[in-house]
Amino acid sequence: MTERLMGGHDSPALGVCYYPEHWPESQWRSDAEQMASLGLRYVRIGEFAWSRLEPARGQFDFEWLDRAIATLAAQGLKVVLCTPTATPPKWLIDAHPDILPVSVDTGTARGFGSRRHYDFSNDPYRDEAVRISEMLAQRYGEDPRVVGWQVDNELCCHDTAHSASPAAHAAFQAWCRQRYSTIDELNAAWGNVFWSMEYPDFDSLELPVLAVTETNPSHRLAYRRFSSDQVVRFHNACVDALRRHSKDQWITHNFIPMKDTQTDCFALASTLDFVSYDSYPLGRTEFLLGASDPALAQRFMRSGHPDYTAYYLDQSRGLKGKGFWIMEQQPGPVNWAPSNPRPAPGMITLWSLEAYAHGADVVSYFRWRQAPFAQEQMHAGLLRPDNSPSDAWAEVERVHHIFSLIGQDALAQPTARVALVTDVQSQWVAEIERQGRGYDSNRIQFQWYSGLRKLGVAVDVVNQDADLSGYSLVLVPSLPIVGTRFIESLAQASTCFLLGPRFGAKTTELTMPQNLPPGDCRSLTGFHVTSVETLRPDVEEPLQFGSEQFVSRLWCEDIVIQAGNVLATYQGNKPALLRNGNILSLTTLTCDDFLGALLPELLIECGVETHPDLGDCRLMARGDLMFALNYGDEPKAIDMASERVVYGSNPVPPHDVLIWRQ
Ligand code: GAL
Repeated sequence: MTERLMGGHDSPALGVCYYPEHWPESQWRSDAEQMASLGLRYVRIGEFAWSRLEPARGQFDFEWLDRAIATLAAQGLKVVLCTPTATPPKWLIDAHPDILPVSVDTGTARGFGSRRHYDFSNDPYRDEAVRISEMLAQRYGEDPRVVGWQVDNELCCHDTAHSASPAAHAAFQAWCRQRYSTIDELNAAWGNVFWSMEYPDFDSLELPVLAVTETNPSHRLAYRRFSSDQVVRFHNACVDALRRHSKDQWITHNFIPMKDTQTDCFALASTLDFVSYDSYPLGRTEFLLGASDPALAQRFMRSGHPDYTAYYLDQSRGLKGKGFWIMEQQPGPVNWAPSNPRPAPGMITLWSLEAYAHGADVVSYFRWRQAPFAQEQMHAGLLRPDNSPSDAWAEVERVHHIFSLIGQDALAQPTARVALVTDVQSQWVAEIERQGRGYDSNRIQFQWYSGLRKLGVAVDVVNQDADLSGYSLVLVPSLPIVGTRFIESLAQASTCFLLGPRFGAKTTELTMPQNLPPGDCRSLTGFHVTSVETLRPDVEEPLQFGSEQFVSRLWCEDIVIQAGNVLATYQGNKPALLRNGNILSLTTLTCDDFLGALLPELLIECGVETHPDLGDCRLMARGDLMFALNYGDEPKAIDMASERVVYGSNPVPPHDVLIWRQ
């Protein structure tokens, strides 16, 4: 029963992010003692500490880090050590100002004075990042007190995936040389004959930035693919540096949502032992709903949307199809959203248990003590700057208690019979080809995900190349570029598929398939698309499904049918939902209620168990434990055998959790 959870321990564990360099050394010991007495097992340190580790080129000071590690380890805490590459120090920037990334919006350098001020294409910086990573790995790579590594911090956060630097420009030309063997091939692939955009040679190739009006979509897609590759290349160089000198230590990275990275996070995760996610439910909900649905944003202001945190938890599990960590869990108000409310009492407990239920093996809080200085002085920690416990403290004690009740009972990962296909290319296409401002691939995926979760259905979030044969139902909300592997899945599987509009709408080079969308999938879907219109976000039109009327929104396709049955209609009698064998295709975007009518039918047909709608309460199973997570502010009664309760009470109080053995 040992070593089955990510990190090597055998029961769910807690951790914290700590910055010893922010505090007098005289405080470290009592900090470590309090961490241990709170029940924390892991402490992440070193994340942004380059200026203290190497105050001037080649002058290293590891002694303070040695003492910090010793102090933490003396209390039985296990150290997760970070590479500090998200914050190149001033002396390095002054020596090599070309490390700074260049804004794609203005063409000017993004300056020193915050973080992530480096260009992924700058080879001298990559060498520096490898050098400092190696220095750390040489010193601590065989130190048993250091159990694992975090590479960098939140790669691509603050819109840093893209840079218009000379280094990026040259690297993009080289990347294109590799991908297209001749410039004629590139010109043809992108359709550069249009507007006289043809390039005479690779050396004359521009970055698709700062032009008068929109640049060629194919050019922009190539630039996004290139930029994603550059991030992965930088990351892998740092991972390799750590691996060269470490023994019996794992390597992870703390991801943000894939949509905010602009990067193929499946590729990024592939060289890691497991992924970690930084979970900030309130800020994320505010960004999702604040502008588009203020009433809903208000309702979930202190809890977060009941499905939005889980959506990213399942995405995190999906990146490697295994357990993961929460490296940073929100502990109170943060400092970076348009408004930063306190979580409702109970929510820190709920989020921590929800993370566990969705596959997190460790929940680590950000941060130990609120810093009274610099950018994040308004960001809560487990302690206040004066050392008194914040509101989060008692909740972490409670989570520790509940984790001890779970113990080794639930080591299994969640299992799902339904998959939701995601793909960074879908986001790229939707952002590049702004045919309808309301079309947002992440929101569409989330809407479908939420439709499943309301029914208590577990979901694996997978990429299009995943083996889909084991799933009963696969949802594909937004997949304009379809690869051959996915077409094989679609052709062979006895699995049922639900495809969204825009499916197969583009070739790999972001041009329209010659034979009209969905290109090579036409014979499988049973139709092709002859025309697309997009609607204003405030317009809804009727959609007829059986005897009920729903709405069609935003994106509307006219199709010509070769095979299959029409299950729903819109715009007069046009097909809105077509079924050809086991493949169902929607030709328009629609409302939550329509999904609420369609999904249960499909799930029943596919033999997937659903649960009655519990309002703002969600169910999730991990191993033989079932979790009811009440996001709502009313108690919620759950239909279960009460004698098997592990934790909590039924009805589940507002913002509380009930756990029982199935
Ligand atoms: C994360 C980041 C941390 C801290 C935190 C504040 O995105 O990794 O360093 O800035 O946000 O919420």
